[in-house]
Amino acid sequence: MKTVTTIRDLRAAVRAWRQAGETVGLVPTMGALHEGHLALVRHARAKTMRTCATLFVNPTQFGPGEDLATYPHSEAEDAAKLTKEKVDLLFQPGTAEIYPPGHITKVWVEGLGDILEGECRPGFFTGVATVVTKLLLQSQPDVAVFGEKDYQQLQVVRRLVRDLDIPVRIEAVATVRDADGLALSSRNAYLKPAERRIAPALFGTISQVAENVARGAKPDAQAAWGVGQLERAGFTSVDYVTVRDAATLAPVANASRPARVLAAVWLGQTRLIDNVPV
Ligand code: PAF
Repeated sequence: MKTVTTIRDLRAAVRAWRQAGETVGLVPTMGALHEGHLALVRHARAKTMRTCATLFVNPTQFGPGEDLATYPHSEAEDAAKLTKEKVDLLFQPGTAEIYPPGHITKVWVEGLGDILEGECRPGFFTGVATVVTKLLLQSQPDVAVFGEKDYQQLQVVRRLVRDLDIPVRIEAVATVRDADGLALSSRNAYLKPAERRIAPALFGTISQVAENVARGAKPDAQAAWGVGQLERAGFTSVDYVTVRDAATLAPVANASRPARVLAAVWLGQTRLIDNVPV
């Protein structure tokens, strides 16, 4: 695996592949790689001839009180994992490469980026949308791969690609979970042992909500039941449990169209999100 740190070198590498008639898959990450990320890499490898991963802890998607300063870093281990997965190229830019002095342009996905996670974390999706747009334009891949774990992010990315006519196919990979159901996340590393024991109840609860809604129960009542269940299970607080249209994330009154149960909770200082299809 070759590592490049500049947009210029990234473009040169992709250009060489293109000239050889090879297709390119992009896997954007913030590092602290786990099996969930490797599933994205494997998907890209299966779909395209060349795979480029990016490792950039994007400061603009962290709010003032959030964990940018303490976000887990494991660059050497990450590079070893990507090498083992036969990634061809790692783009690992510094902050000034992505946001040079004077950078002022932002990508705002109005509405879709302002609800749920966008409401709990103001500015988060503008940070994500801006960096993803830049990474897509910098690398110009055929396919870019995102995890369903960050379901709203996936919809925001699909939307910006459509609205900005970015010529790339966005592909989604199902959430990878521990044996007890907890969705893999770099932030799971923050959980204390007692919190880790409570954490799987998040998946258990939203799965039950999804099943009940699929059987005809009212989404609002089920979401309220889910909040109570999570509180009883020992979560510190619940930001939301909600049943939404799977594409627009608008509230739904029943399961007549594809829907998704999404939730965000706190365990001590750690915020966890998860989602499942109805
Ligand atoms: O999902 C992530 O790790 C990040 O939000 C992404 C897509 C790499 C943008 O920084």
